[in-house]
Order: sequence, then C-alpha cells, then structure tokens
Amino acid sequence: MVKDFIDTNEFTREQLVDMIELSLAIKRAIRSGYYPPLMQDMTLGMIFQQSSTRTRVSFETAMSQMGGHAQYLGPGMIQLGGHETIGDTGKVLSRLVDVVMARVIEHRTIVELAQSCTVPVLNGMSDYNHPTQEIGDLCTIFEHLPQGKRLKDVKVVFVGDGTQVCASLGFITTKLGMHFVHYGPAGHQLTEKHQTILERNCQLSGGSWLVTDDRSAVRDADFIYTDVWYGLYENEMPKEERVQVFHDYQVNRELMALGAIGCKFLHCLPATRGEDVTDEVADSASSLCWEQAGNRLTAMRGLLVYFTRCRPEHTELEIAAARDTLERFLQDRIYC
Ligand code: CP
Repeated sequence: MVKDFIDTNEFTREQLVDMIELSLAIKRAIRSGYYPPLMQDMTLGMIFQQSSTRTRVSFETAMSQMGGHAQYLGPGMIQLGGHETIGDTGKVLSRLVDVVMARVIEHRTIVELAQSCTVPVLNGMSDYNHPTQEIGDLCTIFEHLPQGKRLKDVKVVFVGDGTQVCASLGFITTKLGMHFVHYGPAGHQLTEKHQTILERNCQLSGGSWLVTDDRSAVRDADFIYTDVWYGLYENEMPKEERVQVFHDYQVNRELMALGAIGCKFLHCLPATRGEDVTDEVADSASSLCWEQAGNRLTAMRGLLVYFTRCRPEHTELEIAAARDTLERFLQDRIYC
C-alpha cells in the first residue's frame, strides 16, 4: 500500500476505482442523512503555498463532516521552506497531526514532504499535477456516464492549455481505459514526458490518447473539459497575449456542438468567463462544472478515509483500561 497520494500513476486501475467508489459510497450515505465518523478524533494539517477555494474548503468540510478537525496552514503561516527545511517540517507535523495535505508551488516540495512525513500526505495540487481533482472529476464522470456506454467507450477532450489539470485528466482517463484527447495550441500542449505516461497507461488499459491542434479531434466527445489559459494564479500571461494564442480554443456553443449528442462540459474552476469558456456554456444544462466542484468534497472524504484506514484500532477493553489509568492518576493530584 502506497502511504501517500502524490500521483495517480503510482496506483493501479483497481485501486483508483476503489477510491472513486469509496468516495461515492460515503456521498450516498451522507445524502441519506448518515455522517460516518470515519475521521473521528483525527486532525488534518492543510499546507497552502497558494490560494485556493475548492481544495481548501472541501478538505476542511470533509474533516468536519466525518468527526475530525482541519488546521489551515496558509502561505507564510508556518516555517516550511523558510526557517525550517521541508524535511524537518514533515517530521514535526507527523507528531502533531494524523494526515497532511499540501498545495505547493513546486512538485518536488510535496515529494520531499511525503518522504519526511510518517503520516499520509495528500497532494492538493503542484505545478505537475492535481490528483484530488482527478478523483473528484471521475466521480462526476461515473455519475454522468452517457447512456449505454462503459468507461472504455467514453471520449474525454481537454481543450486549451496543457496545465497540471490537463495532465492529470490525461493520466486518470488513460489509466481507466478511456479515450483522451488534448486539443491545444503548439507550444502549450502536454510534453513528451506526459505523453510517455499516457502511452504506458494505454498499453495497460486499452485506452487511447492524442495530443493535437486539429479541431476535428473534438468530434464525438462525451465530455469537453477546459481550464484557464496559461498557467494558474501568479503565472499568467498578459491578457492580449493569452487571447491571441488561445482564441480558437474557447469552449463556446460552436465547439460544444462538435461533441457527441448529450456532450457535457467540465471545468476544474476557477474559470475566466469570456476567455476559456462563455457564460452560455458554463451556465447551460450541459454544464457539470458546479457538480464537479461539489464532488471535490466527495473525493476529499473518500481519499481521507482511504489513506488513513490503516490506523491502529483499539479494543473497547484497551480504551477502558487507558481511561481508568488516567482517572487514577488525576485523582492522586491535588488540583482534581
Ligand atoms: N480547482 C481547484 O483546485 O480550485 P481551487 O484552486 O479553488 O482549490
């Protein structure tokens, strides 16, 4: 069992399906009014080197709903990489919390953190990938499979910049035997390194992949997915340059019409309305982007449970003995 959730390529197809099905099972339980106390008495340390809405709020809500607690360790709030090395931070946090998640600027930071932590570490996005987004997105795809189709029949087209979300979508869809296309402009497509992984995944799963700037590759898509144009947050291009490079890659009514009948729109959000997607598409009946945002919570619950399920169980007898010992100790003290 891999201790950390850093990259979905470290897991088998069966393990990933298990994570998705666990996430959906907990969602169904909560929808029916049962909040399983699966994180009871546990604490999640949430390191953020960048801002976040969905990742931060969904992790914190997931912990509260399942009886645990989350601590927000935002940019500049802890010593990580400043006065304290990443390795030392990992050793310390492992003694203070039960599980760690981190959104990092550079992927090597999350890898180093995971190596130094003895508790599970979950990747809340790096410059390389966004695996918790992948599990949430697959929950949404599982819930909206086109009628009569199985995963091996489904075509997912990512439109626009080859961001870490694009790479992640390619990783998980090819791992699960689906058909993945990145339709994006030259210079902003998934790299050879990404393509090597997509090819390896497809050889094992029977899926397919294509990276292209040929618009006809969008035809018959079951899902059309996009992200903001060029990088995220701090790294953006000037608007004029963005529009010049990506203007053919806006997800609008014309592009959606190339998809299969019933084609759905996906977006990891935040969106830049009027650039990567039109209001008309984002707010249409075909848009699943709001459900997708809700399924970030679905995924966080499942992943937190999946990666902490190995914690030691104590018997009723052990718990009662521990309580008696502590009570005897306290009774001997004058302050009780
Ligand atoms: N999609 C996503 O990760 O959103 P946040 O940056 O708001 O967490």
